Amino acid sequence: VFAHLVQAPEDPILGVTVAYNKDPSPVKLNLGVGAYRTEEGKPLVLNVVRKAEQQLINDRTRIKEYLPIVGLVEFNKLSAKLILGADSPAIRENRITTVECLSGTGSLRVGGEFLAKHYHQKTIYITQPTWGNHPKIFTLAGLTVKTYRYYDPATRGLNFQGLLEDLGAAPAGSIVLLHACAHNPTGVDPTIQQWEQIRQLMRSKGLMSFFDSAYQGFASGSLDTDAKPIRMFVADGGECLVAQSYAKNMGLYGERVGALSIVCKSADVAGRVESQLKLVIRPMYSSPPIHGASIVAVILRDKNLFNEWTLELKAMADRIISMRKQLFEALRTRGTPGDWSHIIKQIGMFTFTGLNPAQVSFMTKEYHIYMTSDGRISMAGLSSKTVPHLADAIHAVVTK
Ligand code: LMR
Repeated sequence: VFAHLVQAPEDPILGVTVAYNKDPSPVKLNLGVGAYRTEEGKPLVLNVVRKAEQQLINDRTRIKEYLPIVGLVEFNKLSAKLILGADSPAIRENRITTVECLSGTGSLRVGGEFLAKHYHQKTIYITQPTWGNHPKIFTLAGLTVKTYRYYDPATRGLNFQGLLEDLGAAPAGSIVLLHACAHNPTGVDPTIQQWEQIRQLMRSKGLMSFFDSAYQGFASGSLDTDAKPIRMFVADGGECLVAQSYAKNMGLYGERVGALSIVCKSADVAGRVESQLKLVIRPMYSSPPIHGASIVAVILRDKNLFNEWTLELKAMADRIISMRKQLFEALRTRGTPGDWSHIIKQIGMFTFTGLNPAQVSFMTKEYHIYMTSDGRISMAGLSSKTVPHLADAIHAVVTK
């Protein structure tokens, strides 16, 4: 009965790792998926995560009962505090509901389905370009996906005018997906002044903001700075949705731990929203897993562990910034034609190089360097040792 099925293509991002794993070359380099690597090119488990896990193992009172549908309640409270700030008016007024979800993707999907079921507008605007999974998540959630201008290939920066025009032309009430910081795939973020203009425009048109926060702490190295755009939208008293992921900033990729927060107008509404979120979650996966959320709760509740985490996070962010400088310098030393200053201007895990699919494919074939076909490279996958190899490949492809 399944004989008619055609072979589905690999995922544009995760499929890069599949291809990389098949390559026997000793010089191969995976700059596809946004996953942090050490200077030795190895995945990193944070020390603070090891400590938290040890605490959990030592605690013989811990049981493995089902969590409630909304997940680990302490984790939810701490996550809201982390993203909105301890002094957030929404937390003080109890007009927020937070549910534990399966990392960023799960949070976006639950939020998308909730909106498709209960919000009066069914269209969501996403940036052009955006993370490849966004359109699929929201389409399957039951929303209609449209795009707004965001990136300007000419400047390799923000097309702010285009963004304002497109959001200004969106029907009142439309949902707008905003990357809270470290835009994926471009590494281009609005300035705080531009965020303020976006906020004013969106509020004046009654547009609903849905933040995707996958990199809190990774863009600037500061958890508070990276959460600022979201906090601006919450400070004005309006509603918004926030999807949070701990994949990158705590290195908990495979634990699938994240949260969806919905900021409402009143505590009463927040309570009813939560009751409806439970109806979305229960038939989807019943309740979320316990382990990853417990690790996060241990770290966020303990002042010392929290401080230790911020230091480890900053070290990861700094190593990425240093990779940007090294790659930029390596291209300069080689006299590689073109303006490569965007490598140091863009922020977060990714550089949107401007290389086209044919150039990417040449670099993969000839240099065993793997990246997504849109020319995005994960700076977190680079090290001082591999920068020269990447610079050689870029130089070769642009001078060929
Ligand atoms: C990425 O963009 O590489 C990451 O967010 C990982 C993923 O799931 O695609």
